Amino acid sequence: MEDKELYFWNGPLPETQAPATPTPEPWGETKVVGKPIVRIDAYDRVSGSAIYPSDVMLPDMLHAAVLWCPHAHALVKKVDTAAAEKMPGVRAVLKDGVVGTNIPWFAGRGGFTSRLFDAHCRYEGDEVAVVAADTIYQAWDAVRAIKVEYEVLPRVTTIEDAVKPDAPPVRDGGNKPAAPQPYQRGNVEEGFKAADVVLEQTFTTPCELHNPMELHGCVAKWDGPRLTIWESTQGVYAIQAGVAAALKLPLANVRVIGHYMGGGFGSKLEHGKYSVMASLLARKTGRAVRLFLTREQVCMSMGNRPANTITLKVGAKKDGTLVALQSRTIGSGGAYSEGGTGGVDYVIRELYTCPNVRCENSSVFINAGPQRAFRAPGHPQGAWALEGALDALAAKLGMDPIAVRLKNISLVSQTRTGNPPYTSTGFADCLKNGAAAFGWAEARARKPLPSHIKRGVGVSGGMWQGGGGSPPATAIVKLFPDGSANLNMGASDIGCGTKTWGAQIVAEELGVPMDRISVEHADTGTTQFATPSGGSKTVPTESPAIRSAALEVKDQLLGMAAEQLKLPAADLELRGNEVVSKTDATKKVALGQIQAFGRRGLLIGIGYRLPNPPGKAVNPFGAQFAEVEVNTKTGEITVLRFLAAHDSGRIMNAKMFQNQVFGGITMGIGFALTEDRVMDDKQLGKLLTANLHDYKMPTALDAPADKTVVVVDPHDNAFSNTGAKGVGEPATIPTAPAIANAVFQATGLRLTDAPMSPARVLRALAAQKPAPAGQKGVA
Ligand code: MOS
Repeated sequence: MEDKELYFWNGPLPETQAPATPTPEPWGETKVVGKPIVRIDAYDRVSGSAIYPSDVMLPDMLHAAVLWCPHAHALVKKVDTAAAEKMPGVRAVLKDGVVGTNIPWFAGRGGFTSRLFDAHCRYEGDEVAVVAADTIYQAWDAVRAIKVEYEVLPRVTTIEDAVKPDAPPVRDGGNKPAAPQPYQRGNVEEGFKAADVVLEQTFTTPCELHNPMELHGCVAKWDGPRLTIWESTQGVYAIQAGVAAALKLPLANVRVIGHYMGGGFGSKLEHGKYSVMASLLARKTGRAVRLFLTREQVCMSMGNRPANTITLKVGAKKDGTLVALQSRTIGSGGAYSEGGTGGVDYVIRELYTCPNVRCENSSVFINAGPQRAFRAPGHPQGAWALEGALDALAAKLGMDPIAVRLKNISLVSQTRTGNPPYTSTGFADCLKNGAAAFGWAEARARKPLPSHIKRGVGVSGGMWQGGGGSPPATAIVKLFPDGSANLNMGASDIGCGTKTWGAQIVAEELGVPMDRISVEHADTGTTQFATPSGGSKTVPTESPAIRSAALEVKDQLLGMAAEQLKLPAADLELRGNEVVSKTDATKKVALGQIQAFGRRGLLIGIGYRLPNPPGKAVNPFGAQFAEVEVNTKTGEITVLRFLAAHDSGRIMNAKMFQNQVFGGITMGIGFALTEDRVMDDKQLGKLLTANLHDYKMPTALDAPADKTVVVVDPHDNAFSNTGAKGVGEPATIPTAPAIANAVFQATGLRLTDAPMSPARVLRALAAQKPAPAGQKGVA
């Protein structure tokens, strides 16, 4: 249930279907795949010639602006748009009660449904009306001229207040959705009894606000019954499905184009109210309509990583063997989402071998903006608790933190039914190779300097729930008689280089140079089906389909050449623009001279993603290492260097892989040190961090220049023809706990509340008791 809320593609990944046909030979050494090739659209991106959806300008286009509820909780009694409608340039105003606007929106359990414009506004930011005008300035002037009568309701913006018996209900059914069944295996009570040490700690994590560089929005335009939307999205087919359902249109009449997009991180997996509002305004006015939200609206409405409080109890033997884990997690997905704890317990249940585990989760409604999938939903929170607790366990047992982790490596999935083995796990190698490359032992042994600036190192493990991708995915590769090629796929390139590695696969199989491959993607009108780029599955889902399509083209071509050369196809290979005999290089034919190809004009190969094999689990793993400095006078933490070792299976492009890990680390630094949604809990329940000044995201200066990525590739050919497992989310899961554990080694402070702000560090220092004897800290 919760997973469905996190991801808006076709439900949980199928794990048990058998492949329909055998997969092709796995790759051995590759010539193009994996190489650090510069992305094919690098020039367009840096020169500004790339057209992002927010750059789309159409002749006669109108501009729209949204009026949002300024109260944390209110009923809309009356919306008077008369003055606004008479203002210069105003072409349409939509609100509740206007024909066609009564569209169901957040639909949850217990028959709950809110509407596109809902008279019951449940957080500051709920949409009340929208205006389209000739210019954006006229639209904003008109929004300000709309008069709304609100009945302000009592509100709750903290979990603590929301669970009180007399708390004002965010929804008719109250503030607590039915709690999911606890996860349970073995018997934790027995486990704790058998443990030599038991540790219990409570960890808290920040609510992080989605803040992609490009704001959320779209341009919508009708041609008769057909609608075209240019949207900043992670998945054009998901937007097509969402808008078609809202407007009751045939899928075939909704074309969604999303070529470039400026970041999503999970917040652009679904369509927004803006997608539907722009479409309604465009239909009403007969003009194209551009509706992009403001930064403030994005902060309020476009999703967040819920804050969690996680109480984790760990039981272990003297040698570090885990015998029991018990977690209690509470969180809020805001006013509409029940997913306030989604994904949090995954690493607790799955990462380390443990026979007795119990995890309870409860989510509460508050008057705040809804959560949305946020890079590895729940996992950084779960890792913050689990990896902090393991570090504390290591300290208590006098063990090296890496040794405790290596003691508990699992080779099977303990969470999935029947405990299937992983197709591969490089987790132990991530820890060992990472430690060697980082200089872990030397750094831990270093003597502290006599200074108020303390230095320490820390490690954390991590894994991601999604992995290995799955169907559906379709790709088409076209080969032209001059030896150039075209790749056609539906997947969005959300900044990770999807077009580039797709072309690399085609180049690998067909021997076509990269600059002779063009890529068409992310357009429901002209490209193939793809699920949204998310869940770290774009590479593992799409790459096998692309490879299959290229191989199908090659088969056809070699078959045609074999007939003409009167040689067996198995003796032939593609070399540049020629098909050549492997045994006698004088026997060859240029592509343009293959008569059957000439009669066809163009060769087309269609590739599909086959299911992963049954009875196996596919997950990516990683371990990260941080070195930090803590200034004990100011409370500031500086990350000096960072090393990330990742098992993501085969990687497609060394440069883009590294960059994606750097991005994950930077995001994790935000979680660890600065990012935090602040609400005005005491007064009005408004969002106080609704801009990039008050909401502190890390910049390039906050991430260390010294960053290293170690690739652990277990050559996993068991589940797909490319063996790629995904990295986008794994890269940010272990980051924050590695930093906290380094702070512990530097100072002896076990910080359990993120972000570790200077104020919190200073408070903890002030409360610090003398370090217990035997503590292995450097300082
Ligand atoms: Mo992601 S949170 O799967 O875009």
